[in-house]
Amino acid sequence: MTSRLSAFASSLFLSLLAGCGGGGGGGAIDPVATPTPYPPAPAVANPDPLKDAALVSGRLVGTAVQSSYLGQSQYGDTYVKHFNYVTAEWEMKWDPIQKQRGVFNFTGGDAIVDHANARGIAVKGHALVWHGATPDWVNGLSSEELRTEVGYHIRTVAKHFKGRVIAWDVVNEAVDDNGRDLRNSVFLQKLGPGYIAEAFQIAHEADPGAILIYNDYSGEGRGGKSDRIYQLVKELKDSGVPIHGVGLQAHFDGASYPSQADITWNMQRLAELGLLVNVSELDVRVKSITTDRWDRQKRAYKDLTAACMAVSRCHAITLWGFTDKYSWIDSAFGADDPLPFDESYQAKPAFFGMQEAFLGR
Ligand code: XIL
Repeated sequence: MTSRLSAFASSLFLSLLAGCGGGGGGGAIDPVATPTPYPPAPAVANPDPLKDAALVSGRLVGTAVQSSYLGQSQYGDTYVKHFNYVTAEWEMKWDPIQKQRGVFNFTGGDAIVDHANARGIAVKGHALVWHGATPDWVNGLSSEELRTEVGYHIRTVAKHFKGRVIAWDVVNEAVDDNGRDLRNSVFLQKLGPGYIAEAFQIAHEADPGAILIYNDYSGEGRGGKSDRIYQLVKELKDSGVPIHGVGLQAHFDGASYPSQADITWNMQRLAELGLLVNVSELDVRVKSITTDRWDRQKRAYKDLTAACMAVSRCHAITLWGFTDKYSWIDSAFGADDPLPFDESYQAKPAFFGMQEAFLGR
């Protein structure tokens, strides 16, 4: 950072000097007093498509999108150029699709899926059962009604998108942060722990060709929650439930995240169960990093991508958005710049970290 900071400071210094018409006076400017505490990430226009690097090893590289942004030319162009996989950030969840009981609204999901299908971009549906996106009416149901409605929702949605998506996140975030229990959601309370297996079974019947995935966070490296997720998917797999993959969200803080070795180790044990592994919601916060911010963000993206590259069953890496202009992190964790493209759609060091790891550099 020191050299980048001073390079930035001196370029700022020179441009200010130029603005003064070159006539002395530069000595009045303190190069340390930069207008923002951190220099912008060195950003590059028009790098090679990231998907070309991912495709060298046959991998998918994806992003979450929102349909309302697709028509913005820089957003749409960057997305289509660099990604061969996509997930709806919000619009294919239960609440937006069935806010009112029995009334299905596929507008947003269809817009994302049709746009992707027309451009050869593979789609993963997200997410059929998630406590974080259940419509209010679901909370008032009896156990029997809830079981019926979960089945009806999964069946209706999975059939609607059948043949247009290659995969579904079937159950999202069902493991508690304590690493021991299942999350105490309305689904666990009213249906018991068997709801997870039931959801996969119903999804499989509705779309037998789809890769069915269990998705969660804080299960990327070693630790109690990671072990609990492993135990859950192992039990599902061992008992013949149609589960085909595990999604590791990877919402990382660049100041502290699991080591590449630990992520590889964890991905490998999941792969040995016969499951595909995908990184499903990658972003790397940098707010708390005070030195070498962009280099450290690049390192996190590169470590994670390299871990995936080391495990043949790690078939996809999906980012949770791609431009710092639109990231859920800003509202969930506070203003940050967690993605590989800056707000002007220029590629940041993080972009090149992924590209290098995909190319084995
Ligand atoms: C988030 C979206 O990014 C937000 O736009 C939305 O308001 C809430 O959901 N884990 C998940 C994602 O599995 O679905 C969440 O997405 C982020 C955390």
